[in-house]
Amino acid sequence: CGIVGIVGTSEVASRLVDALKRLEYRGYDSAGVATLEGGVLTRRRAEGKLRNLEALLHKSPLAGTIGIGHTRWATHGAPTVDNAHPHASGGVAVVHNGIIENYLALREEAVARGLHPVTETDTEVAALLVAAELADGLSPQEAVGRVLPRLRGAFALVFLFDGHDELLIGARRGSPLAVGHGSGEMFLGSDAIALSPFTDRITYLDEGDWVVVTRTGAQVYDRDNRPVTRAESRSTVGAVMIDKGNYRHYMAKEIHEQPEVIGHTLSRYLDLGAKKAKLPDGAAIDFSKLTRLVISACGTAFYAGLIGKYWFERYARLPVEIDIASEFRYRELPVSEGELALFISQSGETADTLASLRYCRQHGLTIGAVVNVPESTIAREADVVFPTIAGPEIGVASTKAFTCQLAVLASLAILAGRQRGHLSDAQEAELVGALAEAPGRAVQALKLEAQIERLAPSLARAKDLLYLGRSTNYPLALEGALKLKELSYIHAEGYAAGELKHGPIALIEENIPVIVIAPHDSIYEKTVSNMQEVAARGGRILLVTDDKGGEASGLGHKDRIVLPEMPEILSPIVYAIPIQLIAYHTAVFMGTDVDQPRNLAKSVTVE
Ligand code: G6P
Repeated sequence: CGIVGIVGTSEVASRLVDALKRLEYRGYDSAGVATLEGGVLTRRRAEGKLRNLEALLHKSPLAGTIGIGHTRWATHGAPTVDNAHPHASGGVAVVHNGIIENYLALREEAVARGLHPVTETDTEVAALLVAAELADGLSPQEAVGRVLPRLRGAFALVFLFDGHDELLIGARRGSPLAVGHGSGEMFLGSDAIALSPFTDRITYLDEGDWVVVTRTGAQVYDRDNRPVTRAESRSTVGAVMIDKGNYRHYMAKEIHEQPEVIGHTLSRYLDLGAKKAKLPDGAAIDFSKLTRLVISACGTAFYAGLIGKYWFERYARLPVEIDIASEFRYRELPVSEGELALFISQSGETADTLASLRYCRQHGLTIGAVVNVPESTIAREADVVFPTIAGPEIGVASTKAFTCQLAVLASLAILAGRQRGHLSDAQEAELVGALAEAPGRAVQALKLEAQIERLAPSLARAKDLLYLGRSTNYPLALEGALKLKELSYIHAEGYAAGELKHGPIALIEENIPVIVIAPHDSIYEKTVSNMQEVAARGGRILLVTDDKGGEASGLGHKDRIVLPEMPEILSPIVYAIPIQLIAYHTAVFMGTDVDQPRNLAKSVTVE
């Protein structure tokens, strides 16, 4: 979900919607704006996509030079007009990202103070409580200052007040919020992308900060209400990124950008002249003394981490503990100081990943972060940042960020292997040379697109699908199943190929396609046995492999996607591409909303 606010000099309604459009990529299911029309708080809200809100504004326009806007991804309460933001009560309107955990108690209090909640949302209590303070005679700033410390949870808030046409108040706790500086105008937004149509001069609020914004400036207060100054920086986001180029979807564009962005990323981590892995500028870490690597992440980033685990253990003999962040944060994993905690996140804002980071911070671990957004909270809270150079990723389903995460993890595993004395110079040179081929191999993988597009109609008929793989291609099977289900809504599961016989084999029949990811590598023959188990039960196999693997499968000319042969370390990075294309084309064939699948958000800043 996204937030934007403008204290402007011209009409704001359509500008708010424009800014919200930049945030569409985050996923949402309703939207709204509020302005002061002749000093009076007025709202327009709509279910579904922003075009519904635009149509509403067309029918009943909204005047005013100050306003707030929001795209909502439903947490408490269905995505209806009534539950859409901004919420308003007693002369104050509010937009909100995140969750106010103690809202039930606060709502009861508001009722006791004579206010009338009209929604099921947690957000409304922020408006209700501020309204109650205003009714007691406090100024907007005093009222917000009194309410904020009483809210529990992780959130960003922006308030707009009846009769105050030069004032917005924003607060950041857990969810990001940034101030944009214009000339004679000021802005608030949930990230620099929201503010990119207006300004590139950005001030990021720190955790716990709140800010009073007028037409001419902003005063930031820290969590103890002390006035503070936060640095202004130039955002590099620019406006170009919302361009789809010649592609039908951002996701298609992002899949096709992979050769280039994997190359950009590798150039920070590999010294091709010396054939050595290196740390990116500004990063300092010594893997030689580490007793363990602890990895945590969510969704696709977690699968990148799982693949990384194989690499760190294989090439650097470094033990790896890994878990999804929503479990990790509550597991109370015993950790000790000689360990490095590594968090992987495209957005750098995922709430569970951030909470896991803070757990490790409290326990004295060194914190590393593989992130795509350098200004993000996770990047700023880490000791060592390992950037992915994927560029802004707009499609909700992660693609290029994933392969760039893999490029980083593979490079770091090689570096760790050298530092820990497990890779000789020659072995390192061979692995670095192999990794350097990734962009070229990715180009070859993209050439399979037309063939994959032809397979899509038959995959689209399936109600269920299985993905199988072993070793580093096992997490890729999990990622393939995730991609397919999130884009096409076809139920899919990924399994370690060897685990097939312990359950999923019961499902095998001709209407459940089985996608097997199996390059002809050191473990290929084991996977062949598993394929035979499927074939013997009448299962339909789509084999993603290389020339040698195709010949050795013993399956005859069944469906096959054939990649060039390549070194083992490369295969998950390159095989990710046909896996993404399978999900993409199946979904396109089925006519689903590929860039913004239903119910999903790009950056999940709630638990
Ligand atoms: C959401 C997105 C996924 C992403 C996950 C983790 O669920 O839809 O594509 O993998 O969040 O996001 P992060 O920004 O931390 O990588």
